[in-house]
Amino acid sequence: MPDQPVPRDAAVAAPLDSTRRFVPGLLAPAARPGPLPRYCFVGGHNDPDHVPSTALAEAAVAVIRREGAQLAMYNLGTGPLGYLGLRRCVADKLARRQGIRPGADDILITSGSGQGLDLVTQMFLAPGDTVLVEALSFEGAMRRFRKAGAKLLGMAMDEGGILVEPLAVQLRGLRASGTMPKFLYTMPTVHNPTGGVMPAGRRAELLRVARAFGVLIVEDDCYADLVWSGGDPPPALRALDPGCVVYLGSFSKSVLPAVRLDYMVADWDILSRALPLKSDAGTGALDQMVVAEFLGGHEEAHTDLLRTTLHAKMRVMQEAVAREFGSAAECVSAKGGIFLWLKLPDTVDVRTLVAPAARAGVAFNPGPDWAADPDTARSCLRLCFALPSASDIRDGVAELARVCFEQTGIPAHGANRRRAAGP
Ligand SMILES: Cc1ncc(COP(=O)(O)O)c(C=O)c1O
Repeated sequence: MPDQPVPRDAAVAAPLDSTRRFVPGLLAPAARPGPLPRYCFVGGHNDPDHVPSTALAEAAVAVIRREGAQLAMYNLGTGPLGYLGLRRCVADKLARRQGIRPGADDILITSGSGQGLDLVTQMFLAPGDTVLVEALSFEGAMRRFRKAGAKLLGMAMDEGGILVEPLAVQLRGLRASGTMPKFLYTMPTVHNPTGGVMPAGRRAELLRVARAFGVLIVEDDCYADLVWSGGDPPPALRALDPGCVVYLGSFSKSVLPAVRLDYMVADWDILSRALPLKSDAGTGALDQMVVAEFLGGHEEAHTDLLRTTLHAKMRVMQEAVAREFGSAAECVSAKGGIFLWLKLPDTVDVRTLVAPAARAGVAFNPGPDWAADPDTARSCLRLCFALPSASDIRDGVAELARVCFEQTGIPAHGANRRRAAGP
């Protein structure tokens, strides 16, 4: 066949139909990015009024002046684990606050703890494998595990996290059926979405059971620095039994989510298998240098301020929910973090509220996305209170209650009055 004539002006030629070339089973297309909704209660954003811009700018100038020449080299010429200054910072913080005592070489800086989760998924999961997750769990983690073909089993939990006795029964049942979970994924300190913190005694029990059944634990401690009390949270699982736990931490919530910096703490037999899978030729070194420099002088003051601010915003949101939803909403009182987890009456399926709420400018995360068994959380929702101002929190919750009433007749009472006739 003769060659097709090359169009004279490629700029005006019709685009190739690339859709025919995609591999089968490709993920659904993303929505075209747009501006944030007026009342944005989704995602894990942080408070824009408390970005330490001046200190970050000073840190950037200082570290670039001092060490900028290193940027000429991939990974600053010091290898793929990450900027040593940042790994030392992480090691120091973990020893002070989480009771973990890693050496700098037990720490791998990742591009978002999302990447840490990707590495864990790639290292351990093949189609058909089983993973244990809390009955309510982080959507982003469950999505990754499911995408790898893993079967997710929910573990019974309460506000203090995994219930250990039922877990032991579950593990006994799995063992009897010849199933060995690849790992158990948990957020013991400021659980996403409930905001619960597992008490110290239960941590020890959990580790005892995990050891007895030979189950590896993946501990996601993304929110560990945002516990309200300000006092140190109970020791991390990795602090209590390092050999049983791969630990993931993040700067997204304690510094800034747009700085894509996180870390994995694990023994070398695991880190040495994660490194070849990390295909980004190194996490952004400039970000690492700036964050390390910033944390060196400001970590305690910054996280103290963040905790105080976020705690106050949570109270604003709790009050708004109580005012607008009355007894129709049960709130879990978070012990830290950036989310409020709500339960509406069983008759409300929050999935039916997503589109009408979006039309009213309100975005929220529907509970089913945060549950191992989605239908169990059909009347629950997660609201992030970190990004909106106090007045947007009040107005947005009022708007959400109005939409909910229009769609379901619930809440019949709110803002100290009976609402007008329902649908
Ligand atoms: C529990 C948990 N782990 C990990 C992440 C990933 O965060 P990042 O990649 O921004 O560190 C999030 C983000 O919301 C989270 O909630």
